[in-house]
Amino acid sequence: MKRFLVYPMTRVIAVTGGKGGVGKTTVTANLGAALNEFGQRTLVIDTNLTTPNLGFHLGVPLYPKTLHDVLRGEADVDEAMYVHPSGLKVIPAGISMSDLKNTKPDKLQKAVADAADGHDVVFLDCAAGLGREAVAGLKAADELLIVTNPQLPAVTDALKTIKLAEELGVGITGVVLNRVRGHSSELSSADIESLLGHPIIASIPEDNTVHDSLAAKTPITAYAPSSKSAVEMKRLAAKIGGIEWQPPTKGGPAMSIFERIFSFLKI
Ligand SMILES: Nc1ncnc2c1ncn2[C@@H]1O[C@H](COP(=O)(O)OP(=O)(O)OP(=O)(O)O)[C@@H](O)[C@H]1O
Ligand SMILES: [Mg+2]
Repeated sequence: MKRFLVYPMTRVIAVTGGKGGVGKTTVTANLGAALNEFGQRTLVIDTNLTTPNLGFHLGVPLYPKTLHDVLRGEADVDEAMYVHPSGLKVIPAGISMSDLKNTKPDKLQKAVADAADGHDVVFLDCAAGLGREAVAGLKAADELLIVTNPQLPAVTDALKTIKLAEELGVGITGVVLNRVRGHSSELSSADIESLLGHPIIASIPEDNTVHDSLAAKTPITAYAPSSKSAVEMKRLAAKIGGIEWQPPTKGGPAMSIFERIFSFLKI
């Protein structure tokens, strides 16, 4: 593909998982924000063409041109690519009903390959399920992050996604366990790894601050950088990016003034 000729190091990572509502968009927005903060040229693309909401997570739900315009051949990827104030690049999807009716995901692979040029990492926020748009997201990626919750229905759906990825020949980077409460009703990490056949590379706790950050339209990594979920998101981003990163110690010199203020206010 074109991106390999121009930027051989670009990685296109689909954030997927099968089940709806497990946290794919939250993880996409936060990994994008964190890797951008770590200095990598990062792009996030909303490939959820029927129920997109990545734009809400980044504070801009409405854009003049979107991925839908690109897929219809009515815009170039550059016209639908926006720079968030943090520097993170984003290609949103359209949220109107007419976008919903005129959705053809078959051109997604080419659009992603074109958009990937000039970036170190591209995250695709995938649709739930294994319908055409979700599969188009998998096909457009070099590797997959499987997001699941520690409950059996989510893990079962994640397994279906993994099986399909194997059929398509797309590699799995790892499993991201999200909304972990540590309740006895949850499947253990060992059981999830054994069921899915892939390692858990991050375990993100259930954290009410995530809801607050969504309401504030700011990724948790920026909204509450010292929160447990933000630290886990950053740890995961560092792992994916091959970056050495240690969480700041409370009150220690590594903490920024913003982190100290958030830490103080949150208690
Ligand atoms: N670690 C967490 N702690 C608490 N709430 C969370 C966490 N992660 C995600 N959520 C909440 O769960 C809900 C679903 O998250 P999100 O939209 O990211 O899931 P999704 O997998 O992208 O859903 P969809 O399949 O509909 O696209 C949101 O309200 C989000 O704020
Ligand atoms: Mg989503």
